[in-house]
Amino acid sequence: MSPIGTDTSKPTGIGVIGCGVISDIYLRNIARFSQLALVGVADLDMEAARKRAHEHNTIALSPEALLAREDVEIVLNLTIPAAHVAVGLAALEAGKHVYSEKPMAGTVADARRLMDAAQARGLRLGCAPDTFLGGSHQTARALVDAGRIGTPTAGTATLMLPGHEAWHPNPDFYYAGAGAGPMMDMGPYYVTAMINLLGPVRRVTAFGARGRDTRVIATGPRAGQTIPVEVPTHITGVMEFAGGALVQIVTSFDVTAHRHSPLELYGTKGALVIPDPNRFDGEVALFEDGWTPQPLSHAYGDDNYRALGLADMAQGLREGRPHRASGALGLHALEVMEAISASAQDGRVITLDTTCDRPAPLPPEGLPGGLSGGVETAKELHA
Ligand SMILES: NC(=O)c1ccc[n+]([C@@H]2O[C@H](COP(=O)([O-])OP(=O)(O)OC[C@H]3O[C@@H](n4cnc5c(N)ncnc54)[C@H](O)[C@@H]3O)[C@@H](O)[C@H]2O)c1
Repeated sequence: MSPIGTDTSKPTGIGVIGCGVISDIYLRNIARFSQLALVGVADLDMEAARKRAHEHNTIALSPEALLAREDVEIVLNLTIPAAHVAVGLAALEAGKHVYSEKPMAGTVADARRLMDAAQARGLRLGCAPDTFLGGSHQTARALVDAGRIGTPTAGTATLMLPGHEAWHPNPDFYYAGAGAGPMMDMGPYYVTAMINLLGPVRRVTAFGARGRDTRVIATGPRAGQTIPVEVPTHITGVMEFAGGALVQIVTSFDVTAHRHSPLELYGTKGALVIPDPNRFDGEVALFEDGWTPQPLSHAYGDDNYRALGLADMAQGLREGRPHRASGALGLHALEVMEAISASAQDGRVITLDTTCDRPAPLPPEGLPGGLSGGVETAKELHA
């Protein structure tokens, strides 16, 4: 058997564990990336695995059988947050690289177990989100790097919605258990997007509240069922970046509606309004002279590219270069979120232990394989 990742002549074999809601878009996009070859799908619930296998023309396996396959090089872990560590460790023990949905783990201590296990075996760990590789976020990154807003000094990150029980048939994991709450659920998009733009975070502080003690599932076979809420559902905090910028971050499952932008970044020379970091697309607005924005749309790259980070990891494996949606980035983002959650409980200002490099920007031409994070604005800036 050749060592994983050294055969550059063929796409990387992907085995998916977890066949729930999010697996559909991943499976559709894996088929679109030339870097990736789907081997099969697995789930504790064999029925769920069979359903997805049928829909995506692949085979359904038990998780154990999937891990035993030699042609699986990367395990894509799409299980619920509480299972991310056990499934990830089992995959690493089986000699597979792992790319995990967010959050990487419920706690920083558990995420470190994954990092240590990967390092001990010389395997790669990747972690969602990969939306920061999308056209809009790469445009914002190119503008920041080109100095168009000057030195970044401050910003805002705002995620406020009524709650996922309105659409998710099994929303229990959003309100109880490891990885629950709006910060752990949606914070990864916002924190990762800001780390991509500004680099690592130095200190955080926060307050938190719980709007309701129970929620009612609105859809699916369990509609009408009441589920418990065991975590704060409104958290408002501040991230002090190592570079000095102060970013206020609000995540909430307690807000009916609002008109804040998802992300804003202010610098000594200008300002940026940046679209939803849970999406790859959207228009970036650059303010260089007063209150009138320069809208910047990109020429291509507007699509739901979930799996772009996985494709970049597969390509990095073949090319022997680091991948962008890395374990180190996932771990640092998780520590930021864990520290904000802890501060929301006891009001402390918390200095972080972990750090990470900013992920390299995508080349202006994007990744080979048909999908691209390359953007017109970035092209101009690189010209
Ligand atoms: N639903 C979304 O829109 C969305 C978006 C982005 C990210 N995510 C993330 O993706 C992950 C999955 O979310 P989802 O909405 O698809 O959840 P889901 O509950 O719909 O599906 C999870 C699946 O994992 C399976 N599973 C649980 N434990 C397992 C184990 N130990 N071994 C094998 N299979 C196991 C379950 O049987 C289920 O089929 C979560 O981390 C979530 O935060 C979800």
